[in-house]
Amino acid sequence: MVKEYIEQNQTRFLEELFALLRVPSVSADSRFKGDVRQTAELVRQALLDAGADHARLYETAGHPIVYGEKRVSNDAPTVLVYGHYDVQPPDPLDLWNSPPFEPTVKDGKIFARGACDDKGQFFMHVKALEIMSKKNLHGCNLKFMIEGEEEVGSDNLAPFVKEHKDLLKADVVLISDTSLISLDTPSITCGLRGLSYMEVEVESANRDLHSGVYGGAVANPINILSKMIASLHDDQGRVAIPGFYDKVHNLTTEERAEINRAPFNEEQYKKEIGLEALYGEKGFTTIERTGIRPTLDCNGIWGGYTGEGAKTVLPARASAKISMRLVPDQHPNEITELFSNHFKSIAPPSVRVRVKAHHGGEAAVTPTDSKAFLAASSAFQEVWGKKPIPTRDGGSIPIVALFKRELGLDTVLMGFGLDTDALHSPNEHYGIKNFLIGIETIVAFNRHFGKS
Ligand code: BES
Ligand code: MN
Ligand code: MN
Repeated sequence: MVKEYIEQNQTRFLEELFALLRVPSVSADSRFKGDVRQTAELVRQALLDAGADHARLYETAGHPIVYGEKRVSNDAPTVLVYGHYDVQPPDPLDLWNSPPFEPTVKDGKIFARGACDDKGQFFMHVKALEIMSKKNLHGCNLKFMIEGEEEVGSDNLAPFVKEHKDLLKADVVLISDTSLISLDTPSITCGLRGLSYMEVEVESANRDLHSGVYGGAVANPINILSKMIASLHDDQGRVAIPGFYDKVHNLTTEERAEINRAPFNEEQYKKEIGLEALYGEKGFTTIERTGIRPTLDCNGIWGGYTGEGAKTVLPARASAKISMRLVPDQHPNEITELFSNHFKSIAPPSVRVRVKAHHGGEAAVTPTDSKAFLAASSAFQEVWGKKPIPTRDGGSIPIVALFKRELGLDTVLMGFGLDTDALHSPNEHYGIKNFLIGIETIVAFNRHFGKS
């Protein structure tokens, strides 16, 4: 009955998703402020159209939060669905094969910014609500909280959650904003990494200097910064900041074996991203390197002359953005401090160093023995005919730790994207199959969890 409904309505479902994808809700760029709000309005209306009892916007110091509810019965458990309607900037624009905000279907995939992260994914929950309303299949009370600042660190979400604990009361949080192993191998994400994001600046002279007149006698901030960044890893690929690994759990041999049991094709992995060889911390597999090990990466670096031709100059300044992916118990504030102190300590006296912290978030591990996890597992078993494999994803959703701390709620990460969907990259896409089977699996989850 659910499958038929999806088949009969899939063209409309897709059209509705496309309408959301056409609005450039780029949270990072203030020029899109109006579009971000318009998207929030569309989400609110979509919830009402799908059968929500009510839905409204909550204003924040930044972009609005959409909140809606469907109450079914006082006896039924309550599921809090979280998602985000904001998207990453589409840049670099010239690398897109079709316009980022004009959804284009090719090879069974929807190409658009936000197709997978996260419009296509949270919208599955809206359509699941429609089906449950139309077919009277409600298993659970539903609360929806769809925010507009996830891609910029959710700064205003923590205060909102703290101020609205009653409103957000639920039995579990359900999020579709992660990846599956593949359409043949369903999985449920049980771990996410945390994040500390830094910006550093190295400064030497009080102005740019002639590199002939002064060269050799004055520290070059670009040379110094490069050397400092290079020193942040040792020759084993480990992060060389004292204390960085102090709180990192060493998993047991059995736990590691379990994680490595997930199917992984290294040749295909390399081919898909155009690599001959992989690179990373010695002694760990690729699955471990992205799932259970912390990392440090330079995300951007600039300084000096980068225009056409050549300019012989000793720049006065050089900067970099550096982020660290964290694992459970590595607290972002502690890591930020370790990084700052270390980075300042390795600077030679010939330069001044400034370190600034951007947003961060804690890692999360979700239980695999809760009623909600078992309901999700049964839903996959029923719709996919296969038991989902628990996995650890490398990305971050800081709100998961916040839900646990502030509301005492566990999360089920039932994502339907693929790591190859080009999230945050040009040509982001989402499989139509993933979208449709996701809706079916969410309806099944609601039935199983409602019974538990
Ligand atoms: N949906 C992603 C996180 C993600 C992607 C988790 C794939 C697992 C698999 C989310 O929108 C995101 O991009 N998060 C940011 C962190 C945030 C604080 C900006 C990230 O991971 O870089
Ligand atoms: Mn996301
Ligand atoms: Mn994202």
